[in-house]
Amino acid sequence: MYSLDALRERIEDKLATLLPAHSAIAQPMLDAMRHAVLGGGKRMRPLFACASCEAFGGDVEPALTSGCALEFIHSYSLIHDDLPAMDDDDIRHGKPATHIAYGEANAILAGDSLHSLAFQAVVDNDALDAHSKLSIIQLLSDAAGWAGMSGGQCLDIEAEGRDLHLEELKALHAAKTGALIRASMQIGAYSAGAHPDKSRYGALSEVGDLIGLAFQIMDDVLDVTQSTDVLGKPAGSDEAQAKNTFPKLMGLEASKTEAANLLNKAIGLLHDNGLATPTMIELATRAVHRTY
Ligand code: IPE
Ligand code: IPE
Ligand code: MG
Ligand code: MG
Ligand code: MG
Repeated sequence: MYSLDALRERIEDKLATLLPAHSAIAQPMLDAMRHAVLGGGKRMRPLFACASCEAFGGDVEPALTSGCALEFIHSYSLIHDDLPAMDDDDIRHGKPATHIAYGEANAILAGDSLHSLAFQAVVDNDALDAHSKLSIIQLLSDAAGWAGMSGGQCLDIEAEGRDLHLEELKALHAAKTGALIRASMQIGAYSAGAHPDKSRYGALSEVGDLIGLAFQIMDDVLDVTQSTDVLGKPAGSDEAQAKNTFPKLMGLEASKTEAANLLNKAIGLLHDNGLATPTMIELATRAVHRTY
């Protein structure tokens, strides 16, 4: 079993190594990229990639790089999510948001470059064979793109101030947050070897959907229940932007219960499919039972 803290340290090191530090033409953008990625963040997506790689019998090293690719996409999504045109939030990870620290233009460009860097990291990973790389690129592009994260962000913005039904809200969460979390687990499996067992892979994908939805429900709950200090991002942002959230639609307690039920279902599936490693169980639990 891997200790989550030890894995997290290895992820931090790998992120710092993969991020460019010097450019003759674009130093402010690189500084903005490093500001956004380093020094904050729970690293849930790389941790899930490592946990799932372990559950599929792989060595964790190739999954670290795949995990960093996921984190680059995630960091880019947060930079853009905080922009005035989107959620208009000034604080992230307890620091000025990237557009506050480096200006809007550099923040937008840092997001663009992190998006490309994610795919570069996968392609340049010598520890993976060509088939695994291609599968990972396919999963990452599907999860990040029009039907995944950025598609979900489009609906999130478009639906501000208009009440979605429960099924629409679930679809929104599945796209904007669930897709990348599911992909983290799937990409972990592909980082373990070329062809993950079909039935365990199917179960893992279902677990990714369940944890992805629970994760965003808890994000919405914490936005209401926690302080800006604890969150490291502005509390109450959802209400300020008239967002569609689980607490708004079904109330706080029912939202927490829903997240706990989704977690229990996910843990059951992990056990039934030989995926319930201590690392995976601890991580899935932490994704839901958390304070920030
Ligand atoms: C926040 O994600 C945005 C969502 C998709 C819910 P995280 O809570 O994983 O963000 P960090 O990276 O740990 O701050
Ligand atoms: C963000 O959801 C989802 C992304 C794809 C970035 P939120 O807007 O709720 O994330 P936070 O609360 O700002 O981290
Ligand atoms: Mg948002
Ligand atoms: Mg936001
Ligand atoms: Mg939120």
